[in-house]
Amino acid sequence: MRRHKILVVDDEVPNLRLLRRVLSEEHDIFEAASGQEGVNLLEKEEISLIITDQRMPSMTGVQLLEQSLKIRPDAIKILLTGYTDVQALIDAINAGHVYKYIPKPWDADELKLTVRRALEAFELKERNDNLVIELSGALTELENLSVGTIRALADALDAKCDYTAGHSLRVSRIAVLIGRQMGLPEDTLRDIELGGILHDIGKIGVPESILWKPDKLTAEERSIMSRHPVKSAEIIGDLKGLVRAREYVKHHHEFFDGSGYPDGLEGENIPIGARIILVSDAYDAMTTDRPYRKAIGHVRAIEELRKLAGTQFDPVVVTNLLSLTEDGGKEMDKIIAEQFDESFIGLTLASVDPAKTGRQYREEAERRARLAGSEP
Ligand SMILES: [Fe+2]
Repeated sequence: MRRHKILVVDDEVPNLRLLRRVLSEEHDIFEAASGQEGVNLLEKEEISLIITDQRMPSMTGVQLLEQSLKIRPDAIKILLTGYTDVQALIDAINAGHVYKYIPKPWDADELKLTVRRALEAFELKERNDNLVIELSGALTELENLSVGTIRALADALDAKCDYTAGHSLRVSRIAVLIGRQMGLPEDTLRDIELGGILHDIGKIGVPESILWKPDKLTAEERSIMSRHPVKSAEIIGDLKGLVRAREYVKHHHEFFDGSGYPDGLEGENIPIGARIILVSDAYDAMTTDRPYRKAIGHVRAIEELRKLAGTQFDPVVVTNLLSLTEDGGKEMDKIIAEQFDESFIGLTLASVDPAKTGRQYREEAERRARLAGSEP
């Protein structure tokens, strides 16, 4: 981990000295004896982490953190509370301002550990943001988009998220099989394939603490999570070859009864590709192990899809998936596994340097695109 700039704010100067003593070996510490001094320092210095006392005259810790959102939105925030100021704490946490609160008196080792975790989260977010920029750039740069190139990029993202290696590719394959079963034309199938691969790329901006959370998400976390289809569509941008795929991506969380997002579209107003990707996504999520939960298996997955056909899912799409998986999904698994020989999964995602993932995959993608020439 590199040296970071940490802002510590407390109206009691001895507390500031104490924080400095514990943290200054590994990081640069900036002290402020009031909220206003803290704001001034935030404007001047590239602060990664803010540790502030809650109870201070004129500006409370929560108020300072609120202001800091405008100046350093990405800085991680830790609140120190000398007593149980429950309401301030609840407000701060609900507003999504606080990474952690630490009750006073704090323990030096515990504080150091919390700071290390917080800065790891900061660095991860930084890397993810860079990857999004890199990816958008890569998509724009590549004039002749081939399916192979896009697959490689999606793989890089799955690797980055690490929770769904291969998920996007499987969703894409399942979606194409359903589309074919429904008799959709080849050009639509191609867009469904691309949409399936790219549907979740916007999740790269969602913190892992939310992506991997085993418990129910809070309202704030849900709202962050629900931005990912729009974010995915934004990353795809205005590329000519991806206009329809982008629509499928943007609407892949719309529900058949109109209760989905981002636009609350209903029934057949939802693009067909989006309706198919939603079902494929749900099926794959339920039949594949995740780090935080086991797969529930084909039989129960089908039960779920049947139950929600007509409300969440397009019943016609579900019926077509059912007819494809009458043998318990074995044939479909086989087809998908065969398709993977051609994919980039073999590039062993785990061996890729996380800091270089995006670039490494892009170079590989470009190399393969050159080799493949005019691959569709
Ligand atoms: Fe999604």
